[in-house]
Amino acid sequence: MGRVILVALLVCLSAAATQVRAEDPYLFFTWNVTYGTISPLGVPQKGILINGQFPGPNINSTTNNNIVLNVFNNLDEPFLLTWMGIQHRKNSWQDGVLGTNCPIPPGTNFTYHFQVKDQIGSYIYYPTTAMHRAAGGFGGLRVNSRLLIPVPYADPEDDYTVLIGDWYVKSHTALKNFLDSGRSLGRPDAVLINGKSANYKRPLFTMKPGKTYKYRICNVGLKDSLNFRIQDHPMKLVEMEGSHTVQNTYESLDVHVGQCFSVLVTADKAPKEYYMVASTRFTKTVLTGKAIIRYTNGRRGSATLKNLPEAPVGWAWSLNQFRSFRWNLTASAARPNPQGSYHYGKIPITRTIKIVNSVSRANGKLRYGINGVSHVNPVTPLKLAEYYGVANKVFKYNLIRDVPPKKQPVELNLAPNVVNQTFRNFVEIIFENHEKSLQSWHLSGYSFFAVSIEPGRWSPEKRRNYNLLDAVSRHTIQVYPKSYAAILLTFDNAGMWNLRSELTENRYLGQQLYVSVLSPARSLRDEYNLPDSALLCGIVKDLTKPLPYSI
Ligand SMILES: *[C@@H]1O[C@H](CO)[C@@H](O)[C@H](O)[C@H]1NC(C)=O
Ligand SMILES: *[C@@H]1O[C@H](CO)[C@@H](O)[C@H](O)[C@H]1NC(C)=O
Ligand SMILES: *[C@@H]1O[C@H](CO)[C@@H](O)[C@H](O)[C@H]1NC(C)=O
Ligand SMILES: *[C@@H]1O[C@H](CO)[C@@H](O)[C@H](O)[C@H]1NC(C)=O
Ligand SMILES: *[C@@H]1O[C@H](CO)[C@@H](O)[C@H](O)[C@H]1NC(C)=O
Repeated sequence: MGRVILVALLVCLSAAATQVRAEDPYLFFTWNVTYGTISPLGVPQKGILINGQFPGPNINSTTNNNIVLNVFNNLDEPFLLTWMGIQHRKNSWQDGVLGTNCPIPPGTNFTYHFQVKDQIGSYIYYPTTAMHRAAGGFGGLRVNSRLLIPVPYADPEDDYTVLIGDWYVKSHTALKNFLDSGRSLGRPDAVLINGKSANYKRPLFTMKPGKTYKYRICNVGLKDSLNFRIQDHPMKLVEMEGSHTVQNTYESLDVHVGQCFSVLVTADKAPKEYYMVASTRFTKTVLTGKAIIRYTNGRRGSATLKNLPEAPVGWAWSLNQFRSFRWNLTASAARPNPQGSYHYGKIPITRTIKIVNSVSRANGKLRYGINGVSHVNPVTPLKLAEYYGVANKVFKYNLIRDVPPKKQPVELNLAPNVVNQTFRNFVEIIFENHEKSLQSWHLSGYSFFAVSIEPGRWSPEKRRNYNLLDAVSRHTIQVYPKSYAAILLTFDNAGMWNLRSELTENRYLGQQLYVSVLSPARSLRDEYNLPDSALLCGIVKDLTKPLPYSI
């Protein structure tokens, strides 16, 4: 009897502790994901549209908004979207990657429910299934400040999203076939800006003379770092992946895959048209995307290629630019959780994980790995297997160690790559890149302090070079060839979180892992229950739902 009441009580409580806080405003969206013909390069190709749009619609939200987004998958394949950089506190159920969510079957719908918290800034969403991202389905996501939280700059006249990325004319299925057969994607064909190529002659943006505009620049591409610049117009950096920065002015910015910057640009030059340019970095052949900005009193067709800003050469320039990024410690806007962790330089490190990326061509098939393991997604999402208590039937924890093998194996171990992490530990992660190519790493569910990028190999004494005062708290970090990057963070967000290469080929072929952060209490204070609306698949499909977390 008593037990029945207790169970009933738990069920009521878990229903009350839903994914969203009822008192905060709601934003509702219905998205129809379909195929459609797009011709960004003048050649018709099969694109992925959201409500008929390529790129997809912008989500314009304000801190504490509850987002309820119903996605109808009208493709012929399972589909998922991830909200890159949105932290989903206690709520990895909404992260939209195959380790946490069953994909939405074709012809059905699924509703994401999540709340955007105090991470004022510019973000993107994109598909995580198959190679869908190569066909579209991506878009911008803004988190604005509530009126009561001032941001460290005056309200701009307008606010523009600039999605830059490399692009292939080949279909996403052809690209997937390359990877599935163990080949590389090869070189992209162009760089697009908001889905348009350089031969698009109409202005994408307009500016009133004398006014200041905010541009949110994100790299939504598959592999190439891009240098972004605007003819004759320096950019004042104000925000990076959810942190307000010291407001330095830049002639150009290197934006690595998955990264976002917000800059202010003032229309204080001759009233005409200007080019904005995004060109590939560290590639033999440079691909350049261009788009036109017109002053409202500027003459049509007045953009010229004269004085088009030159791109920097080599990666030392890029590293110096990284070193110039500083967090604005006095900006009164929101700080990453937990409140107070901005004194990160004083927190003792309890664990160091060193990650080395590697590539293998065993049996003629390309694979990428981390510390000897190349991740594969099991049919049952890792988080669901763990929640239902059947993890041992789906994956093994900790196949990799915190220290990579001395010699990377010729043949990678193909398996789900999951490491566990003690709740609330303060951890150092080192990304050591022994290869000649640039890497870009993202951790979902968190913001981390990007304390160092240096050439060479990491060793404990390199900690002396860390920025322990005002490193920017962000979600994606690049690692230059034969270099390392160090990040620090507190694993205080319970859930199953994806640490991945943002280079699509690398990620698709195994360069990712999941971090399981379990709260020992199984408490709703630390993590939400599996939502009632969650899709079920694999071995948990017909299992009885476990008892919900308690308060
Ligand atoms: C989505 O778009 C397709 C193609 O235009 C249409 O057939 C379908 O009815 C739409 N579905 C929804 C839910 O709007
Ligand atoms: C975005 O939302 C903010 C806050 O509600 C609003 O002031 C702004 O006009 C919106 N922008 C767009 C482009 O809808
Ligand atoms: C699918 O869409 C319908 C109609 O909008 C909605 O009532 C239902 O809750 C959605 N289902 C899921 C699983 O999100
Ligand atoms: C940091 O933010 C403060 C408070 O909004 C602002 O006054 C200051 O100019 C900013 N500092 C820098 C260096 O950008
Ligand atoms: C992590 O996994 C190891 C080995 O499976 C286990 O002994 C340890 O207790 C786990 N730690 C946490 C924090 O879950």
